[in-house]
Amino acid sequence: MNKRVKFIYLLAFAILGFASCNSPKNKSKKSVIDQKVDSLLSVMTLEEKIGQMNLYNGFWDATGPKPKNGNAAKKYQDLKNGLVGAMLNVRGVKNVKAVQKIAVEETRLGIPLIIGFDVIHGHKTLAPIPLAEAASWDLEAIKTAARNAAVEASAEGINWTFAPMVDISRDARWGRVMEGAGEDTYLASLIAKARVEGFQGEDLSAHNTIAACAKHFAAYGFAEAGRDYNTTEVNPSTLRNTILPPFKAAKDAGVKTFMNAFNDADGIPATGSQHLQRTILKEEWGFNGFVVSDWGSIKEMIAHGYAKDNKHAAEIAAKAGSDMDMESYAYVKHLAGLVKDGKVKEAYINQAAARILKVKFELGLFDDPYKYCDEAREKEVLGSKELHAGVLDMAKKSMVLLKNSTNLLPLKKQGLNIAVIGDLADDKTSPLGSWRLAAEDNTAISVLEGLKAYPNNNITFASGPKLYTGTPTFVKETQINTTDKSGFNEAVRTARNKDVVIMVLGEHGFQSGEGRSRVDLGLPSFQQQLLEAVYEVNKNIVLVLMNGRPLTINWADANIPSILEAWQLGTQSGNAIAQVLYGDYNPSGKLPMTFPKHVGQVPIYYNHKSTGRPKTSDHDANTVFWSHYGDISNDPLYEFGYGLSYTTFTYDNLKLSAKSCNKKGNIKVTFTLKNSGNYRGKEVVQLYIQDLYASIIRPVKELKGFKIVDLKAGESKKVSFTIDAKTLEFYSANNKWEAEVGEFKVFVGGSSKTNIEDSFELTD
Ligand code: BGC
Repeated sequence: MNKRVKFIYLLAFAILGFASCNSPKNKSKKSVIDQKVDSLLSVMTLEEKIGQMNLYNGFWDATGPKPKNGNAAKKYQDLKNGLVGAMLNVRGVKNVKAVQKIAVEETRLGIPLIIGFDVIHGHKTLAPIPLAEAASWDLEAIKTAARNAAVEASAEGINWTFAPMVDISRDARWGRVMEGAGEDTYLASLIAKARVEGFQGEDLSAHNTIAACAKHFAAYGFAEAGRDYNTTEVNPSTLRNTILPPFKAAKDAGVKTFMNAFNDADGIPATGSQHLQRTILKEEWGFNGFVVSDWGSIKEMIAHGYAKDNKHAAEIAAKAGSDMDMESYAYVKHLAGLVKDGKVKEAYINQAAARILKVKFELGLFDDPYKYCDEAREKEVLGSKELHAGVLDMAKKSMVLLKNSTNLLPLKKQGLNIAVIGDLADDKTSPLGSWRLAAEDNTAISVLEGLKAYPNNNITFASGPKLYTGTPTFVKETQINTTDKSGFNEAVRTARNKDVVIMVLGEHGFQSGEGRSRVDLGLPSFQQQLLEAVYEVNKNIVLVLMNGRPLTINWADANIPSILEAWQLGTQSGNAIAQVLYGDYNPSGKLPMTFPKHVGQVPIYYNHKSTGRPKTSDHDANTVFWSHYGDISNDPLYEFGYGLSYTTFTYDNLKLSAKSCNKKGNIKVTFTLKNSGNYRGKEVVQLYIQDLYASIIRPVKELKGFKIVDLKAGESKKVSFTIDAKTLEFYSANNKWEAEVGEFKVFVGGSSKTNIEDSFELTD
């Protein structure tokens, strides 16, 4: 901070600080940071306060330090005039320092910028995509992954991430399922907490922790027909019981910011929703950080048909409690006028600016605005060995073994002739996924490279037809190859007479992610055809799937002996996959999202409600009048929570400590888990309940607990969970969280299809 600025600021603080010391009321209520915020606000002009509410995308790289023309020049000028509160997509110590220097040394008050970036799963050194991490069910590992991401990103000057995305989604057509934690509210809530704690660490003012952002508030994951940005229809019960809890968990974990959403929910754009942002988030939940709009979502209210023009959009968003404008240019242009015209209360501006300044103080930016700008640290931390070890560990934990019917896996480490087939097998970019802004193309370890680290088998590689055309950067669906079959026959020839064929198939890294909705969930391009042709000549196939969403792989499930779900595992992808294929790591992941049999079943999720006509044993083969499809069963291909291991587990001896309890009591659920196979392994044991009747229909099953249990071959362990009234709460017809008396079923097992069960009653 320059001397002049410090003087103005300190003076204001001294006056206000003195005043508040003399007022017992203020003294007891306001934290030191709040007092500092008040002091600062007292010397700010209306325009400067609105400037804090303005978030600009970086213009630095493209246009150099002093852009002369167009939008970039305007942004640069705004920055100099103190009309920018935060920037995104500026990274690298040199660049961050340069923009920060303008804010701190050239503006009247020298208020530092927050520097945001989409640090979604790692930064330059990438961890698995978030959906894959969720498949680990390992909250400690997920927290560590977020911690490591914060360490790396902060070393590049970043102090705010637009993560975690905590949107629940039940629709694999939606490309952004890769960015969330899957379909289940309970699991996703715990993961939201883990990620927030990982990013923000124990001390937000440390130089290696960053502010997190729970997004997209709310209902974005419920886009109709899975088409990104589409409208959503959510009833209040689904909103409260299914969509909001992960956001609440993030809030309770101390998340500093929320991002609103592109979608409308029930006719009101989330960005303009007072109900969501002011009533629920700020009033009901007491959230005291700030809400940022999504990219351009304020001005998009015009296209929605909710705002007349950008000025009107600014008015709506500010009133609704959207504190910061990302790239709509709505606040910086129109808010001052709206206040002067009496359309927006000045108090709203003060509150929004205060929320933003508070986070800046909490980050420690006023103590040292350059604290994230240490070139030596940047050099030492980016791409460090420790970070690579971290993403490798997370990648191994994220894989899900879907099938291993002939125990083809794990592979022997010597003497095998192996064919490796598939364009994705030597793809060093797709494993990075679509959120890889700070990672360069071609920086992932490919499956082929990973396998070659085991030198005593003989590997022959044939790519088969190319999956896409063009460079790997920003591949669009239209670039997926559907015409050029070259390489097909050679791949089939290569597979013939080999001991094992490893086929790496799935989606290109850019086929899932934002704006990447698909209606076909099968294997794209010629991959399905290739799989079937190779199967004709060699049945010993291990199918390694690389994808960002559930796929419909019925044929593979029916025919291929071994299937490993490897998602997009990040920088260390190939090493992690090879270690699992060779049994140096026994997979223990479980699906966080249902795999449908057919896209027509979507949305499909395990915790659906019961209809009045569910399947019962009374239905004989000729009955059609129950809730089902005529041409396919209601069952998914792989259910939520499903995943195998190289060993097997048995569940036995389920006992409840009582058959009933009142709302103050609890019931202990115990059972015996046995490793009944030949390898040491970890099992994610899962506890589900069903509330048999309630004021609002409850799901047929709901996850209420899980534990990762590590057992040696032959070993058994007693596992227990405790159920109390809190476990049984839901947002009831009384519009509040409560447990209702009645009967409950309890299920335990290794997936949501578990069938060992008991029951109990909850009384008042
Ligand atoms: C996405 C957000 C993201 C933002 C900034 C938007 O398109 O929806 O999730 O954080 O861009 O990159």
